[in-house]
Amino acid sequence: MKPIISPSILSADFGHLADDIEMLNRSEADWVHIDIMDGVFVPNISFGFPVLKYVAKLARKPLDVHLMIVQPEKFIPEVKALGAHVMNVHYEACPHLHRVVQQIREAGMQPAVTINPATPVCMLKDIINDVYMVLLMSVNPGFGGQKFIEHSIEKVRELRELITLSGSDALIEVDGGVNLETGARLVAAGADVLVAGSAVFAAPDQEEAIRSLKRL
Ligand code: DX5
Ligand code: ZN
Repeated sequence: MKPIISPSILSADFGHLADDIEMLNRSEADWVHIDIMDGVFVPNISFGFPVLKYVAKLARKPLDVHLMIVQPEKFIPEVKALGAHVMNVHYEACPHLHRVVQQIREAGMQPAVTINPATPVCMLKDIINDVYMVLLMSVNPGFGGQKFIEHSIEKVRELRELITLSGSDALIEVDGGVNLETGARLVAAGADVLVAGSAVFAAPDQEEAIRSLKRL
């Protein structure tokens, strides 16, 4: 099965953001990945809801919102107001993860749980049947353009096994350092969704970069 491609606009040209969203609309991208950072959970700040309101208005693909913030449950109404398809919250940011997942579902969005590179896949055992998707970070979150952490391939395999054993139908998404080379190995290991920031936006032909990822 072809992977779902979710380009991350963190690597877009913010001076011409509307043009980059139009490019995604024309392209074979399936979703638009939106990285929200608070400078607390991660050592960087990206963009917030006043900017995303316009992104949501322009984008004609489902929004895959990745919150790298503390207390993400505070912003369920704002994410919902964007019309988001998926709301990704970090396992490490939610002491009451089960409640947050239910709240996201009740709000009418698909809940996804994200784990950092140092969080083992086995920590997802008691939530795997409640989520639409698991997002495995293959870099430490906070910045685009970082080097892929090799151990992520093994984590995709472990997660695929956990999903099969649990009878869950959760999708596996991978984020960080994804390009044609790492993407091919991730798909072979069992990944369903690939996030790509710099591999798309730093490419000379962005639509072609998306097309190549889609063909993996
Ligand atoms: C990192 C973000 C990623 C980032 C990926 O904290 O969650 O979505 O944009 O960028 P690349 O694909 O360049 O590693
Ligand atoms: Zn992300």
